[in-house]
Amino acid sequence: MDGTTQQSDFRPAGRLGSIGVSEILKIGAAAARLKREGRPVIVLGAGEPDFDTPDNVKQAAEQAIRAGKTKYPPLEGTPELKAAIVEKFRRENGLSYAPDEVTVSSGAKAILYNAFMASLDPGDEVILAAPYWTTYADIVRIAGGTPVDVVCREENGFRLAAEDLERAITPRTRWLLLNSPSNPSGAAYSEANLRPITEVLLRHPHVWLMSDDIYEHLVYDGLAFVTAAQIEPSLKARTLTVNGVSKAYAMTGWRIGYAGGPKSLIAAMRRGSRARSPWPAPSARLQP
Ligand SMILES: Cc1ncc(COP(=O)(O)O)c(C=O)c1O
Repeated sequence: MDGTTQQSDFRPAGRLGSIGVSEILKIGAAAARLKREGRPVIVLGAGEPDFDTPDNVKQAAEQAIRAGKTKYPPLEGTPELKAAIVEKFRRENGLSYAPDEVTVSSGAKAILYNAFMASLDPGDEVILAAPYWTTYADIVRIAGGTPVDVVCREENGFRLAAEDLERAITPRTRWLLLNSPSNPSGAAYSEANLRPITEVLLRHPHVWLMSDDIYEHLVYDGLAFVTAAQIEPSLKARTLTVNGVSKAYAMTGWRIGYAGGPKSLIAAMRRGSRARSPWPAPSARLQP
């Protein structure tokens, strides 16, 4: 050792080349700059509710911490939390899931990540109803899939039109990812709006549906929230119903998301969160 500092340039993994800086972060930075300049901006970037986490939730968390519930939980969530999720799906969505058909992760984002990591092979296509939360395309790409944008036209209330969906489906389509109410457009699907979409899916049994219901509780103008597996029970066997507490209860920092879906997918997602990387383990990669 001669005491000089050694230089070692960091080389990012090749897979990072497929994803850029989060558009949401760029929007946030641009909004902060405009605010500093004194411009009156309403930021529609990060989906942060404008109320605080309810007191009963804070108190329950404090009690749980004091009771020592601070150890590793089961990967797919504690039995008590899973039972509460089963009950939520039954009460609010009329969906009946068994405990082994629900799973929990650190936010709906991690649920989507686990689901795509567990299901996509290179070249598999995921149909995204544009405009969408930009993270969707990044997660699909990092999981090896190909995002396929289908524009939701203004004349259709920024909702996905059945004929546009039909045209986008190929033999490589694995998923349609639908988000209602939508971030960023706010477009929401009543039962009548959703029915033409479920009819297309019924005609294409190889296409699964990921229903991102995270904004379920933020509905206006008397709209009755519905989710696809509820209005078309025959799709339930190939639907992942995704939700979480971030938006409904202003708990964005708590990182709790959950999903209900077929047992085989839920089990694969659990395996995925144990051994997340689809690439060989470092020891294997370093073999000569
Ligand atoms: C459409 C959509 N889905 C999912 C999420 C992720 O939510 P979570 O905080 O549960 O990871 C967001 C967050 O902004 C979102 O806008």
